[in-house]
Amino acid sequence: MNAIVPETFQELDPSPRLIMGPGPVDVYPRVLRAMSVPMLGQFDPEFTEYMNEIMALYRQVYQTQNQWTFLINGTARAGIEACLGSLVSCGDKVLVPRFGRFGYLLTEIAQRVGGDVVNLDAEWGTVFETDRICDAIRKERPRVVALVHGDTSTTMAQPLEGISAVCQEVDALLYVDTTATLCGMPIPVDDLQLDAVSTGLQKCMSGPPGTSPITINERAAAVINNRKHIEGGIRPDDYVAGNGPKIISNYLDLGMLMDYWSPKRLNHHTESTSMLYAARECARVILEEGLEAGFARHERASRALRSGLQAMGLELFGDQTNSMTNITGILIPKACGDGEGVRSQMLHDFSIEIGTSFGHLAGVIWRIGTMGYVCRKSNVLRCVNALDAVLRRHGFDAPANAGVDAVLDVYAGDSNG
Ligand SMILES: Cc1ncc(COP(=O)(O)O)c(C=O)c1O
Repeated sequence: MNAIVPETFQELDPSPRLIMGPGPVDVYPRVLRAMSVPMLGQFDPEFTEYMNEIMALYRQVYQTQNQWTFLINGTARAGIEACLGSLVSCGDKVLVPRFGRFGYLLTEIAQRVGGDVVNLDAEWGTVFETDRICDAIRKERPRVVALVHGDTSTTMAQPLEGISAVCQEVDALLYVDTTATLCGMPIPVDDLQLDAVSTGLQKCMSGPPGTSPITINERAAAVINNRKHIEGGIRPDDYVAGNGPKIISNYLDLGMLMDYWSPKRLNHHTESTSMLYAARECARVILEEGLEAGFARHERASRALRSGLQAMGLELFGDQTNSMTNITGILIPKACGDGEGVRSQMLHDFSIEIGTSFGHLAGVIWRIGTMGYVCRKSNVLRCVNALDAVLRRHGFDAPANAGVDAVLDVYAGDSNG
């Protein structure tokens, strides 16, 4: 038998990167500090008060009065699975309009929880006319409509106005995945009458991936409560199970999670303490800046970046009237092949990460994120400057300084860059 040689590896010492891909992005230093404060027991009144504060903070972030606004432990897709798994029962019809990779993810998750999924497809790089979605809702009369707001894979954002009213006409619930856009673009949950919404921390909120803030309204809560099933060993004496089918996941059962996040504090998992601290600090940073100021900062950085890229002779990808204002898609110039050489040199020589995409857009577009803590004039300038130098070495000659000049022009006179 071979002896096991002890190996402890080096102390963690990651290179200081500027992460300008489609997420995750650099984390706010305040959030990193918050993650290193001491643990508390999950029923310590100080900790349960932090849970209440999370609910209050995320109501503001989501611009909602929804009581049920809390965290799902896991990355953004855990939030999606919690929402869809708790709202969709086996055999329920689910309409999923797809305009990128993440529409496929919603489809996959809705199918796995037993949904009978009907898709509507738009070409990647475009979004749907609202009427097309509304007509499909009236025709299909689904139980749930599941929609991505900003599809990171294509950098497009689907306008959400006018969809909930039609959902209500046919008594469908509207779920929206805002992983890539919350805090980067306006998503006023109550004004838009969205029934269930989830997100992740690692994009415009500049936190680490690992917890998913969600919000659900009373319409959605009623469906979940009708499926309420409390696990054995913790059932209160007055427990009566709901009439509807049991939610298939225990970990992502929103009914039990609502009890855990309510004053009942009925035990479920052990809340991920450091991630809760992170989520709390992310929300505090964002709300201190102000949501509107944050949206404006993201819009300005994207405009500056796009202006710089176009001045360099690069072509932007997709329908620019419906592009996300926090991630920019760029067609990879022919001279640069699949673009991997450029990405690699950006990373290794300049320590700047940019992304490519998925499916038929892999090696066809680059994606540059200007999100959260990263979304600043100095970073846009650093990125455009580095790209200018790297592109030249990969056979694409941009007019000298044109990119940086164009970025500076957009920011000219703006001290808030
Ligand atoms: C729109 C969208 N939805 C869902 C996800 C999945 O997020 P996670 O990797 O945090 O599970 C992502 C990740 O990039 C995303 O961009």
